[in-house]
Amino acid sequence: MSYVITIDGPAGAGKSSVAKNLALKLGIKYLDTGAIYRAIALILAKSEIKPDNKEFLNEALSEIKIELVNNEVLVNGFDVTGEIRTPEVDELSSLYSAVPEVRKALLSLQQEQKNYGSIIAEGRDVGSVVFPDARFKFFLTASPEARARRRYEQRLSKNQDADYEEILSAIKSRDENDSHREAAPLSIPDNAVYIDTSDMSEDEVINFIYEHVKEVLSKS
Ligand code: DC
Repeated sequence: MSYVITIDGPAGAGKSSVAKNLALKLGIKYLDTGAIYRAIALILAKSEIKPDNKEFLNEALSEIKIELVNNEVLVNGFDVTGEIRTPEVDELSSLYSAVPEVRKALLSLQQEQKNYGSIIAEGRDVGSVVFPDARFKFFLTASPEARARRRYEQRLSKNQDADYEEILSAIKSRDENDSHREAAPLSIPDNAVYIDTSDMSEDEVINFIYEHVKEVLSKS
């Protein structure tokens, strides 16, 4: 029987990497909901539609078609997978994802992904709003400093410019936006297993979740 695993948590908690690797290990599909929010933010910003311009926003949302094809994100048929991973889009996605109309427009696209088999979904409200009945729920977090350090090292390893203090301040400001917005603020879903990864390696987090899931599945 197919099942859903959700992983929620703040920016930089290691959710993407953990979810991607777990999906491979478990042989199930990976759903990166942040990528969907990034794609919609990118296209709305490019179209110069401000988050508070409700009239244009609703019209645009009804016309934008987002598709997920083999972990690539297409907007109206165009692949934006590479373009959505920039500090600018970090900021933009945090702004646009606070708009209830945007969240509503993206809900069914996320929910229908479970029709194609077991999935591991990662985001900010996947365990509470998108898949409240998920069989397995996890909440991954880490101190802002630990998350900033990881982002900093990640950027350096990709030969990108990196300034630790700047990254830390951007993470704190995104936390503030994502946690205090009215629409689906970041919160720990009911029945989620809480994991503080500040002092854990990525492999330790993956193994912890993997063992937990395998044990429950073996008993059913
Ligand atoms: O996980 P990420 O950094 O790719 O997410 C980008 C932004 O999208 C982040 O600021 C919060 C938002 N987001 C959200 O509101 N709900 C989700 N399920 C996923 C992401």
